[in-house]
Amino acid sequence: MPVTILAIESSCDETSASICVDGKILSNFIANQTVHEQYGGVVPELASRAHMQNIVPVVDRALASAGCTLSSLDAIAFTQAPGLIGSLLVGAQFAKSLALSLDKPLITVHHMQAHVLANLIAEEKPDFPFICLTVSGGHTQIVLANSPLDLKVIGETIDDAAGEAFDKSAKLLGLPYPGGPLIDKYAASGNPLKFKFAEPQIPELNFSFSGLKTSVLYFLQKQEPGFIQQNLADLCASIQYTIIRILLKKLQKAITQTGVKNVCIAGGVSANSGLRKGLTEMGEKEGWKTYIPKFEYCTDNAAMIAITAYYKYLEGQFSSLEAGPTARAEW
Ligand code: KG4
Ligand code: ZN
Repeated sequence: MPVTILAIESSCDETSASICVDGKILSNFIANQTVHEQYGGVVPELASRAHMQNIVPVVDRALASAGCTLSSLDAIAFTQAPGLIGSLLVGAQFAKSLALSLDKPLITVHHMQAHVLANLIAEEKPDFPFICLTVSGGHTQIVLANSPLDLKVIGETIDDAAGEAFDKSAKLLGLPYPGGPLIDKYAASGNPLKFKFAEPQIPELNFSFSGLKTSVLYFLQKQEPGFIQQNLADLCASIQYTIIRILLKKLQKAITQTGVKNVCIAGGVSANSGLRKGLTEMGEKEGWKTYIPKFEYCTDNAAMIAITAYYKYLEGQFSSLEAGPTARAEW
């Protein structure tokens, strides 16, 4: 009998539901919350309210598009941590109520593990072990994946995440939230070597991005009015170039240290065209096998929760109905 899983993701400002049958994603619906744009960041209270409005229609669409009904489900999965607690609660309560009423098993999923396992959705999957650079709005990690459920963080940021570096730099340039995709867009027509920003020297496989934001701030403070408008593309290209250099240098160090040459990226920042191109080029030069998830599986989505839940299902890793969400969680 095929295994059919409904997964729900609501950790931040995207409400998403996905159906996975035997490890294949049949549907993945995402409702984006545009309400936060005017505030320059995600407003937790508004995010929870939007999840409440979105969750039923999003689940209905995921079921309908996969040709499933509630009775065909074998398990219900949800993102347990980390994230905004009010947002997580909406997905958790919905999933638990459904599991209780259908009398089906419940599976809890760690959001950052799911970002890594988004690489197992594609037809061409990486062999284990692999190294994954996970770059999102809240995290920047290098992960050694020995098997689907044996993942080890071997490096991470000591302050800002790579996504924050994009978003905070974008804010300094007067761009709306989230600024990462806009920097990517303007960078396409800019000169990445026009301006030079600070690259921190951090030991081991760890990262730091707070100095970059300060370096951009001090640089902009010294300029004449109108400078940003006249140089927007070059500024975006130079900021993006610096962030990617920091990321790829550490990735290269991780590969040298571990000897693992299957290399993946994951998380919202892995949607960045410069990072995707940079990784591909570096992989060709260094003899790595590189894997990059489709765009829809880079930013927050329930398909990555579903694929992780599938591997947990195969291992019999179910949770009780007492399982609640937590804002922070170690692996
Ligand atoms: O993984 P994600 O969707 O949510 C979290 O779990 O944090 O990542 C969101 C982050 C934001 O900082 C956003 O600006 C960044 O991913 N992002 C990008 C791009 N698309 C999303 N950053 C740079 N270039 C992009 N194309
Ligand atoms: Zn995420």
